[in-house]
Amino acid sequence: MKVTFLGQSGFLIKTGGKSLLFDPFISANDLNPMDPLDLVCDYVLLTHGHQDHVLDAEAIAKKNKATIISNYEIVNWYGAKNIKGHPLNHGGASDFDFGNVKYVHAVHSSVLPDGTYGGNPGGFVISNDEGCFYHAGDTALTMDMKLLPLTSPKLDFAILPIGDNFTMGYKDAVISADFIECEKIIACHYDTFGYIKVDHEAAKEAFSRRQKELIFLEIGVETEF
Ligand code: NI
Ligand code: MN
Repeated sequence: MKVTFLGQSGFLIKTGGKSLLFDPFISANDLNPMDPLDLVCDYVLLTHGHQDHVLDAEAIAKKNKATIISNYEIVNWYGAKNIKGHPLNHGGASDFDFGNVKYVHAVHSSVLPDGTYGGNPGGFVISNDEGCFYHAGDTALTMDMKLLPLTSPKLDFAILPIGDNFTMGYKDAVISADFIECEKIIACHYDTFGYIKVDHEAAKEAFSRRQKELIFLEIGVETEF
């Protein structure tokens, strides 16, 4: 799987012969100078409706004629803008042409940019014959994470928020990595705003003390996992 970090919780992940774009927040992110319309994708996966996750989703999905995968409320909201989608809800999984997607619980809130109810926020577990990974979206540490190893294939890596303030911080993310039984964690939801600035070395040290690896990917650089 080829993983490119796009800033905040945004990732472009190539797997199963398709390009999956997660939570694009690029055009208002000073840390990512790229033009979001240069991104090529087949699917746009949205964890919840907050602006720092959906900002560029409409423009990118329209340009690429991509399918939005999210919860029922968010997919309906984009459907009214003539963007095709596949609605999921918590605990539900579905097979796509690149693999299986399961929408799982997140402890957070969700509203769309115009104030429309965004349904309940979630994360995604993606699996296919190349492997399995989890994008947690915005979430607190929650006991529900213990369900992942019972209900999904072994995770090859997981994308967890570590920025604190709006989501769990890195200390709770270490416990989350234990709960989901994953040793390789890619950091997200940090440094974009003043509230979520993170000491990278302290965060990495907290993970390595528990025999886990915290990875800070450079924005825009593709890495194989
Ligand atoms: Ni949020
Ligand atoms: Mn957020």
